[in-house]
Amino acid sequence: MSDSRVALITGSSSGIGAAIARRLSADGMRVVVNSARSAEAGKELAASLPEAVYVQGDVSDPDAARHIVQAAIDAYGRLDVLVNNAGATRFIPLQDLEAADATVWRDLFDVNVFGAWQLTTAAVPHLRKAEAASIVNISSVSAARAMGSSIPYAVSKAALNHMTRLLATQLGPNIRVNAIAPGLVDTPWYDEAPEVWEGSRDWITANTPLRRVGTPEDVAEAVLYLTRAAYTTGDVLTVDGGRHVV
Ligand SMILES: NC(=O)c1ccc[n+]([C@@H]2O[C@H](COP(=O)([O-])OP(=O)(O)OC[C@H]3O[C@@H](n4cnc5c(N)ncnc54)[C@H](OP(=O)(O)O)[C@@H]3O)[C@@H](O)[C@H]2O)c1
Repeated sequence: MSDSRVALITGSSSGIGAAIARRLSADGMRVVVNSARSAEAGKELAASLPEAVYVQGDVSDPDAARHIVQAAIDAYGRLDVLVNNAGATRFIPLQDLEAADATVWRDLFDVNVFGAWQLTTAAVPHLRKAEAASIVNISSVSAARAMGSSIPYAVSKAALNHMTRLLATQLGPNIRVNAIAPGLVDTPWYDEAPEVWEGSRDWITANTPLRRVGTPEDVAEAVLYLTRAAYTTGDVLTVDGGRHVV
């Protein structure tokens, strides 16, 4: 059996997660692809990579979270990298307080916060055995600015950022914990809100330093960097083409 590192990427049947799986695989890692629903796309991606398996499971379900991590151990006997990428949102204008009801808050926190927490707690006993383990949480620029698809979504990502910092204090020196805050990235995420996508894309293309929206590969490259950045922990790396400075 190969002794290359093993990376588990949640929500990797599509978009940013799929690009992360491809990038880490190209770097020589064995990868575990996951999604809750789109099993065919996940299996296809795993089959297209040199050493990869697919495991279906909803990160918001505690039993499924344990099952996803166990599947990685069953397949490869070790875990070196966990990328908490699976995410959910609702597109609700920030001023529409009524629409952001308790169900929306619970649904988004279940995936974006508790999901990441559950995967992390299930993975930590295995990550502790690795030589240089790393957790990367996929957050959002909306965690720190008055923007984003909805207030519950933005607040859930702010919680994820602080979880990142607190875990970094508790899991060092063996496990580094960082997050990435992407800006607007071209993925199927916006399929249900094309008007949001078009308006944001046009504004970003016209007004930001790098004059384009992000690609899933831009985020994947940053994830790879954080898996190698041996003296970086507790950080939130912004990947938004410079949007945050204008
Ligand atoms: N696109 C952007 O502009 C942007 C910007 C900032 C941050 N982000 C973050 O980037 C991450 C990925 O988003 P994306 O744009 O790549 O979206 P995407 O293309 O819609 O992909 C989302 C992935 O997550 C999976 N997923 C959703 N809920 C899940 C659950 N409960 N358990 C396991 N897997 C689940 C989806 O598969 P199934 O639905 O089939 O399960 C899919 O594979 C999210 O955390 C998002 O908040 C995106």
